[in-house]
Amino acid sequence: MKRPPTVAVIDFGSQTAQLIARRVRDLGVYSELIPWNAPAEQLAQADAYILSGGPASIYEPDAPTLPPIVLESGKPVLGICYGMQALAHALGGHVAPATAREFGHTIVELTGDAPLLSGLPEKLDVWMSHSDHVDALPPGWVALGASHNDNMAIMGDIARKRYALQFHPEVQHTRQGMDILRNFLFDVAELEADWTPANFIETMTQEIRDRVGDSRVLLGLSGGVDSSVVAALVHRAIGDQLTCVFVDHGMMRLGEADEVFETFQQAHGIHLIGINAAELFLEDLKGVTDPEEKRKRIGHRFVRVFEAEAARLAAESQGAPYRFLAQGTLYPDVIESAATGRERAARTIKTHHNVGGLPEDIEFELLEPLRYLFKDEVRRVGLALGLPERIVWRHPFPGPGLAIRILGEVTWDRLETLRQADAIVIQELEAANLYRATSQAFAVLLPVRTVGVMGDYRTYGNVVAIRVVTTDDFMTADWARLPDDLLGRMANRIVNEVEGVNRVVYDITSKPPATIEWE
Ligand code: XMP
Repeated sequence: MKRPPTVAVIDFGSQTAQLIARRVRDLGVYSELIPWNAPAEQLAQADAYILSGGPASIYEPDAPTLPPIVLESGKPVLGICYGMQALAHALGGHVAPATAREFGHTIVELTGDAPLLSGLPEKLDVWMSHSDHVDALPPGWVALGASHNDNMAIMGDIARKRYALQFHPEVQHTRQGMDILRNFLFDVAELEADWTPANFIETMTQEIRDRVGDSRVLLGLSGGVDSSVVAALVHRAIGDQLTCVFVDHGMMRLGEADEVFETFQQAHGIHLIGINAAELFLEDLKGVTDPEEKRKRIGHRFVRVFEAEAARLAAESQGAPYRFLAQGTLYPDVIESAATGRERAARTIKTHHNVGGLPEDIEFELLEPLRYLFKDEVRRVGLALGLPERIVWRHPFPGPGLAIRILGEVTWDRLETLRQADAIVIQELEAANLYRATSQAFAVLLPVRTVGVMGDYRTYGNVVAIRVVTTDDFMTADWARLPDDLLGRMANRIVNEVEGVNRVVYDITSKPPATIEWE
């Protein structure tokens, strides 16, 4: 039912294979990552192929091979790194086993002319990462560029619209990378740029309507970007057949629950049920200090509260049954689970999305309209659907919420203290126009007290840590170099405005070795 990819990126295992698909989509062409050993039908519908790099050498016994359909189809092909070697090998060229590695920044000089290279300067700044290289062209191919080590860097069979690059056009360090990809998509393969948020919304709206029919859909709305965009999209498709459930576990940030209601219920007219279960959650957390135990208890309680609500809705619903559960699964989760053969696990549960994950025995079919989108595309779709920037650009917030930012036992008083401190951090970051430039920012309440002095009095109060990081993928992160005066304002306001706090520290550790959260 879903649309076939216009460009199939054949995945030979490179770290940057996903990036190729993202770049192609950034240029307006729908692209998907497909494993090299996928069934031919999966590859057949594409209009062009890009072959990714990969860690293997084509001489290894189990090295990935070029799927025959790529050449049989006669469609345009761009091979990258290992993809170049696989092409050369399959077509009767020769790949020289590694003698030396070429790694990092290199200059490539163009030695021929071809549509792939139109408008490019004679010398390209490129990023290489390979050991083997092609040292004899396949019949019918010409050399188009060489690196300063005299290695073949670009080759092509111009008449058949087949090209290959030894370097990586998808990485930022290849300065003319986007130009090369653009040339391939539009000059060589003559594709159309029809992958836009508006087109996606149109197609997906229709798809949701067809699939859901008269049934109803339930969605756990957290206020995060993914579930928010799902809510807006599904609501656009089926209106009141969608019911959203927002579980307030009491560990939310200041004003967060109100904002969710304002945005979804008032501004978008979405049927939204709020459940304030803070007392239940706090009861579960009494005396608990271990971070994993906090996560476990919050996760379990969340599932029970959500299930009870789903059962209540099902029992009370007159008319069509709730057949679907909508979820904000994204493309990277899908790729990862396909790669590791955990497809089913990813389809049924996305743990961090719904705090603890939903049990498998819930009898819903899953509706995952963002299954083929990258995060930046989700944001663009959100904006096109009219969601406010505040929601679309919101930093991620962990499912267990402030509970894992209060070190030690979670109490209502400590939650209130942290909520206020956290709000000041975010307000000041926004006022300094640095919210979007950072990836995650928050306050942490520490389980120690320190001595201070206020007026003539000695105080013995709480310590708040500020954590602000920048990251692309949240797997590694760097601490944000915020201006001193901004940090000063945050600290000043926190000690002055938040009762019981007399000291503020700034976390200057990167990840690794630290994690982003403190628990
Ligand atoms: P760490 O602390 O592992 O965090 O560097 C990486 C990213 O994951 C988020 N995070 C969580 N999200 N449930 C969630 O939904 C959790 O238990 C959890 N723990 C960490 C964290 O906020 C950061 O974005």
